[in-house]
Amino acid sequence: MGKVGLGLAVGCAVASCAIAAVMVGRRVRSRRRWWWVVRVFDEFEEAASTPVGRLRQVVDAMAVEMHAGLASEGGSKLKMLLTFVDNLPDGSENGIFYALHVGGTNFRLLRIQLGGQRAILGHDVERKPIPQHLMTSTSEELFDFIALSLKEFVERKGNNLQISQVRGRDLGLTFSFPVKQMSVSSGTLIKWTKGFSIEDMVGKDIVECLQKALSRRGLDMTVAALVNDSVGTLALGHFYDKDTVAAVVIGTGTNACYLERADAVIKCQGLLTTSGGMVINMEWGNFWSSHLPRTSYDIDLDAESQNPNDQGFEKMISGMYLGDIVRRVILRMSLESDIFGPVSSKLLARFVLSTPSMAAMHEDDSPNLSEVAKILEETLDIHDVPLKVRKLVVKICDVVTRRAARLAAAGIVGILKKIGRDGTGGITSGRIKSGKSGKMRRTVVAVDGGLYTSYTMFREYLNAAVAEILGEEIAPYVILKVMEDGSGIGAAMLAASNSAQSVDTVQVL
Ligand code: BGC
Repeated sequence: MGKVGLGLAVGCAVASCAIAAVMVGRRVRSRRRWWWVVRVFDEFEEAASTPVGRLRQVVDAMAVEMHAGLASEGGSKLKMLLTFVDNLPDGSENGIFYALHVGGTNFRLLRIQLGGQRAILGHDVERKPIPQHLMTSTSEELFDFIALSLKEFVERKGNNLQISQVRGRDLGLTFSFPVKQMSVSSGTLIKWTKGFSIEDMVGKDIVECLQKALSRRGLDMTVAALVNDSVGTLALGHFYDKDTVAAVVIGTGTNACYLERADAVIKCQGLLTTSGGMVINMEWGNFWSSHLPRTSYDIDLDAESQNPNDQGFEKMISGMYLGDIVRRVILRMSLESDIFGPVSSKLLARFVLSTPSMAAMHEDDSPNLSEVAKILEETLDIHDVPLKVRKLVVKICDVVTRRAARLAAAGIVGILKKIGRDGTGGITSGRIKSGKSGKMRRTVVAVDGGLYTSYTMFREYLNAAVAEILGEEIAPYVILKVMEDGSGIGAAMLAASNSAQSVDTVQVL
């Protein structure tokens, strides 16, 4: 080998050593980056964990807060609002009733025909998205849109019924925001949630706003019942099954209501109802306890939200937020590693990953997680993600959904504890009693909202957690029943039962 040849050989050897070194270095660095991302995930999983011991603390905190909210106005973050609903439908209701449901991403119009004897003879529902701009416009614009939609619906569904023929017909209005009710058919808005923000509406009577808009459209209908969606769900649950004592909504937002003894509503002394009870709208979305497993992602989500320090429970549980928590975890991983390629600008946009998309990734059962790849590409502009990273994305969705479902389950058991239906000693004077109570009664909780009705894994986690918290002896007595569209149908039923009642059954002395 001549000098030139030797030089060339040495040169090649040096070059290949250098290439090898770079490759090894890259692999080590990429392994380090993967290792780092796994650490980020583990920390998140740990911070969001909900072992049954922690859930039981949440159960107790919920029961104690409920007591405090009933004891005095402002006594708790739980508003525990009076609904003036003391009699729930029992199946004897008769006639055609309309209902409107305002409160989530979709606005719903309903027409139901009740035939007595627990029979629903006809049932029409139409969903319409509320145009985004109306969620932050003026009350007049929002209610004009609602009134016009109702007018068109009545004309379409009424089999050529003339508008004049619905004159005086009773209407149920489900308004899924915190409302201070003055009676079963009047109430003022306390605050907006779920991304709505129409300043001039706060403090106004919702029924008055709707009635004015209806007359502007020439529609002579009377709002006989103004109800929260959880109350509508309870009404439908009770229509079918008299053992229904509470209802929960887990959709865009979340809330619960239950049947309370009138004498337990200490903040309203002298509350007299014919049934001796009253449905309480808890507004549990605003529940807070130091036992809630809060992560740094929740803190950021809250700080950047329209309502910081508000609706803390809702921000961990409901459909408006779950997708965004997942997005935040992916964003952090993307900023601190290259496992998702270059940081996508779409990842920076709040709410770009909706909860239905998150659920679709979570429930992707294709062998190569093609749905996950598709959603990452189409929604987040993240391409060519290796399978192990797609698997990691599914795990993130799982942590977020599992925590949400298990916390909602703890909330439900908290209600049962408050009313002495959890098999323990319940709660008296704001203190948790321990030990077993007497005989357990069959107890039904009605559930509505897309997260529970349409997201199988969420529903399974929630059901399993309720059973886990209650234990195998008590769990068989507690039944969770899906009440799809219960929020709206129940409002129509309450309109029916309230229009039939000529006298007011609730008095505050
Ligand atoms: C509202 C509740 C409502 C719940 C579910 C929450 O944001 O404050 O009134 O029941 O969402 O729709």
